[in-house]
Formats: sequence, structure tokens, C-alpha cells
Amino acid sequence: MRTDAELQALRNRWIGRSNSWTAAFMEALKTATPQQRKSLGKGANDLKKDVEAAIAERASALAATRRPKNAVDLTLPGRGLQLGHRHPLSLVRDEVIDIFTRLGYQVLEGPEIEDDYHNFEALNMPADHPARDMHDTLYLRTPLQPRSYGAEVPAGTKAAPLTLLRTHTSAMQIRHMEHNAPPVRLVAIGPVYRKDDLDLTHTPMFHQVEGLVVGKGITLADLKGTVSAMARALFGSAEVRFRPSFFPYTEPSAEVDIRCFKCAGAGCSLCKKSGWIEILGSGMVHPAVFEAVGYDSDAVTGFAFGMGVERVAQLKWGVGDIRLFYENDLRFLEQFGI
Ligand code: DAH
Repeated sequence: MRTDAELQALRNRWIGRSNSWTAAFMEALKTATPQQRKSLGKGANDLKKDVEAAIAERASALAATRRPKNAVDLTLPGRGLQLGHRHPLSLVRDEVIDIFTRLGYQVLEGPEIEDDYHNFEALNMPADHPARDMHDTLYLRTPLQPRSYGAEVPAGTKAAPLTLLRTHTSAMQIRHMEHNAPPVRLVAIGPVYRKDDLDLTHTPMFHQVEGLVVGKGITLADLKGTVSAMARALFGSAEVRFRPSFFPYTEPSAEVDIRCFKCAGAGCSLCKKSGWIEILGSGMVHPAVFEAVGYDSDAVTGFAFGMGVERVAQLKWGVGDIRLFYENDLRFLEQFGI
């Protein structure tokens, strides 16, 4: 007898109000003569007391085996050691940094609060360019004090007031070139901001990788070779295509697409039925950009590209909804590497 339930069953069987042996005996006693009833009744009561005493003894023995309250149960499984996971966007960033540091590129970050000059004007974006539209750009109500990035900005440099959240990392092209002579080989990685509503592929803050190479005799072939090598390193054997495009700061310009991961090119809602997903914009640096930073556009040429980090992560892991990167749902984040 090891449980309270077993003890209760025993109690019911012997001395319960109905269906017990004592109850049956008492019932049978009704048919006895008054003399018989007296002696038999006493015997039955004595037996009942003995049984009650025996059961009480068992009950206290059972209670003694019970664990005291708040006791430590050494048989419980231990609490697992929870290891954190790298965020998928950090994984992509570090992979890109790895690819380009191996190629001898410099890695920069730069300010997220920018001025109109570095974000637009020096990148050959005229005042009426649609990218400067209030709908795309988040402006600061109060201009902040000029701030330099890193120690490379010489003392006494004049800088326009910082009045917007950078809409792209291309601003870092200007920031770097205006203080460093060619040759240039850099990637700049970090957050950028746009007045976008949240949906499957847009968030008001996302991340970009900017690449810039400037030197003697840099050609479109260097751009194609570099961007294709990066795409292969990031996506394995993924198919890549170059498409003529327009950016004010490059001429010629090209957009680079990769096969849609969701439909494998058949056409779906994610790739807007085209079978391709754009991953980056690129081109040969426009002479007007070189002029803005004091480079001799007859002496050097260069290429640049800008790529969305979230987009790369979406492609690599088949993430259909960009919002998952920011919701901090462990069921999502735990699927990525350490
Ligand atoms: N700045 C562009 C964007 O935000 C991307 C881009 C396009 C960057 C062409 C470049 C470039 O450096 O050459 O969409």
C-alpha cells in the first residue's frame, strides 16, 4: 500500500458506510435475537476500532514517506543551458565583411544622422530628385551640430548641419573620398532609414552594404567580376543577372537580380511574378561625384554598389516576411547559427 488512494480503498472495503464488511455485518445483525445482537454488536465495534487503528497507523506511516514542502527534488531534470544565437542580419553582415576584407577592402560604418550634402547633393542628386522627396526621407526637425566620422576628418573641416537620417550608405562614398586620396577600396555597412510602411519587404529602418572602388583603370568588368563573386560567395550557385538602370551617382548603372528563392523563377507574389529579385544597385562612379570630392576624373575611374542586408538574408534563408528580423521571436531567431 503506497498511495493515499490505496489506503482509501482499504478503508472503504473494511469500515465504509455502505458495501463494506462491517456495514454488511451490521445489516445481518438485524436478523439476530436481542441477546445475540448485544454480544455480536460489541465484537463488531471492537473489530471496527481495531481496523480504524490499523488504518490510522498506515496513514501516518504513509504521511511520513511524503516529501516535506519546499524540499529539493533531486530527481527533477536540470534546467538546460540556453546558448544564444547570432542574429541572421549579423551573420550576413559578418559574411560580407569577411568576403571583402579578404579582398583587401576597408570596412566603415559612418553616421546615421546625415546632412543633405553627403546624402544627396555631392552624389549628383539635384534638388528636385524624387529621392529627396519628403515621402522617402526622414528629416530632423532641429539640425544637429556637424559631426565627423572617425578620426580621418581634418580639423577645421566645414560640414553642413546634419538634418536627416541617411537614406542610403552611399553617403559614405563622399565622406570617405573627401578626406582620403585614391586609390579607394571600401565597404560601408549600417542602418539606413526611409519613410516606408511595414510590409513583407519594407521596414522604415533597414541595413545596406555600400561598396566603392576607385583607382587607375577600374572598369565595368571589375564591377561585374566583383559583384558576381560576392553573389556567388553569398548564395552559392545562385543565378545572377545585370540589368541596365539609372542612379544619379553612377554612369552607366546596373541593377543586379538573383533568382527568386520562393518560386525558383516561376513567378510569385514575392518577386512580383518576374522570377527575379533585385539585390543591389551598382555602376561606374559618375564624374560629378569625383568632382565633388576633389578627385581628378580624368586620372581615376571607379565602381560602386549598394545592397540590402535584409534582402540577402531573406534570399539566403527563404524568409518571406522582413518583419521577422525585428520581432525578436525566439522560435524564429533560434533557427540561425551560433
Ligand atoms: N543607394 C542606392 C539605394 O539606396 C543603391 C546603390 C545604387 C548604391 C548604385 C550604389 C550604386 O553605390 O552605385 O538604392
